[in-house]
Amino acid sequence: MTFLSFLTAAFLTSLATPTPNLHTNETLIPPNDFIHIHNLRLHSQSGLHYLNGINYWSCMNLASSTSTGGNLTRLLTELDQLASHGINHVRIMASSEGAPTPQPFRMNPPLFTALGVYDEAVFQGLDRCLHELSVRGIRATMTLGNEWHWSGGFAQYVSWATNNSRIPYPPSWNMTAAPQRPTPRTGWGAYTIEGVDAAPYDAFTNYANSIYDNKIAEEMSKQHIDIVMNRRNSVNGRLYTEDPTIMTWQIANEPQAADPLGYTGPYSIFLLPNPDDRMFPFIQRLASYIRLRSPRQLVSVGLESKQGEYYFKRIHDDPHVDYATTHVWVQNWGVYDMFDPHPENLARAQDFASAFLKNTSTWGKEIGKPVFLEEFGMARNNWEHVGKEYAYLSSAGTGNRDVYFTSIFETVLDDFKSGGAYIGTCPWAYGGIWRPETQVMNTFDMVWAGDPPHEATGWYDLYDTDATMAIIEEQAKDVRGWIEENDGGEGKGEG
Ligand SMILES: *[C@@H]1O[C@H](CO)[C@@H](O)[C@H](O)[C@H]1NC(C)=O
Ligand SMILES: *[C@@H]1O[C@H](CO)[C@@H](O)[C@H](O)[C@H]1NC(C)=O
Ligand SMILES: *[C@@H]1O[C@H](CO)[C@@H](O)[C@H](O)[C@H]1NC(C)=O
Ligand SMILES: *[C@@H]1O[C@H](CO)[C@@H](O)[C@H](O)[C@H]1NC(C)=O
Ligand SMILES: *[C@@H]1O[C@H](CO)[C@@H](O)[C@H](O)[C@H]1NC(C)=O
Repeated sequence: MTFLSFLTAAFLTSLATPTPNLHTNETLIPPNDFIHIHNLRLHSQSGLHYLNGINYWSCMNLASSTSTGGNLTRLLTELDQLASHGINHVRIMASSEGAPTPQPFRMNPPLFTALGVYDEAVFQGLDRCLHELSVRGIRATMTLGNEWHWSGGFAQYVSWATNNSRIPYPPSWNMTAAPQRPTPRTGWGAYTIEGVDAAPYDAFTNYANSIYDNKIAEEMSKQHIDIVMNRRNSVNGRLYTEDPTIMTWQIANEPQAADPLGYTGPYSIFLLPNPDDRMFPFIQRLASYIRLRSPRQLVSVGLESKQGEYYFKRIHDDPHVDYATTHVWVQNWGVYDMFDPHPENLARAQDFASAFLKNTSTWGKEIGKPVFLEEFGMARNNWEHVGKEYAYLSSAGTGNRDVYFTSIFETVLDDFKSGGAYIGTCPWAYGGIWRPETQVMNTFDMVWAGDPPHEATGWYDLYDTDATMAIIEEQAKDVRGWIEENDGGEGKGEG
């Protein structure tokens, strides 16, 4: 009590002169230094702000206590690594939903298991995560929901709202399924539907997307968002809505169109856009709900933007959505094959990504919204593993990925430097010091790879020793140098 009121008062008076009593927190991002948007660009108090991001979705769990399945030693090591590579943004989960009964394929333990029933230890992990990011000058996108089942997400709300109805899981990674390594609980596993309904992906998304017109599910999700946003950080006393470490509240990871017409595959420019898709009003309601609670932080949707121009513009051209998001997944969308070493395979991926980035930059400018490439990834040279015990060992090279990432960084940076809509990149996903060869499931059945618990571990991980991290660092240096030379101070002093 005294601590909190003292801290609030101290923050109010400490803007100009740091209070000695706060020395342990004095390197936090300053209390008024919110990222804001001006002329298609992000700005902080020190000027133009480019997002050198990385996905680090498990931060809240890694930052929680050992008895909650966390590992603070690992977290601090990895955050120091990220800061040393020039990372200034992470995209993290700010929520995970459990169930009355244990559910497979998802983050565990979850932040909450029923409306109002929170795991305070996980919440304290989120507090710790935000604090440690802040002292390293790293800001966050806080993802509040999920189309996919790996954090609970839409499907869990629908299940709660329909008398705990059974979630029709699609085939997902089961680490304890055959083939098993000799030491129990160290992998490998397989995509399996054992023990759960064998659902095609469409059946799963139909179930999850019924949140779009299920008022009870929507209300639950809003009540939860309200609780997260109004959380007071137990480490540094900051109210989440008053913490500039939180750049963005994101509605959900990859919400999908519910009623697509003319859908032709995992990636498609929809031939017949459906203006009546139930996704649109849902996203609109959530965006205004979040904006109302936090006028100084930004709001984004989390859309992949794979559905083409109509969907991109319709979702993002909303007064409560501050910038557009894009994700590009060449293997998942059938453009790239991780077992194919031929140069045409890689070239196809590069061409696709480059066309996708050009399209979305144009669309962003047309609606006057910046665009953030907040997910992209590529597997290692996994053709090197054909015939080995596991396709995703860390021993394969990263040659293709490094070429592909380099071309993405160049395309996005060129776009940014030449006045395009792009404001940064955020590859998927930091696995840091974790490796599949040494993985051991913890008491909560988790390993915290860069890959979420419904996918093969080691697929898209970026390891601390990968050459890819040096490429990330190089482009961060490049953009910092460019900003120093070119930011005439237009953004300075604002905010
Ligand atoms: C932040 O400041 C508060 C108030 O002085 C203090 O209790 C807390 O321990 C500090 N946290 C850290 C991690 O320095
Ligand atoms: C935590 O991570 C460290 C590496 O930083 C590792 O040595 C240790 O075994 C991990 N602890 C647990 C409980 O997993
Ligand atoms: C809810 O589920 C329980 C257990 O499956 C069942 O007994 C009950 O009848 C259901 N209630 C409704 C309203 O469907
Ligand atoms: C995972 O695999 C094990 C071993 O085959 C099986 O017992 C379990 O039911 C599976 N779990 C799920 C959720 O598929
Ligand atoms: C880019 O947009 C054009 C025009 O809508 C479309 O034909 C093309 O498929 C798009 N390419 C990608 C990769 O999005």
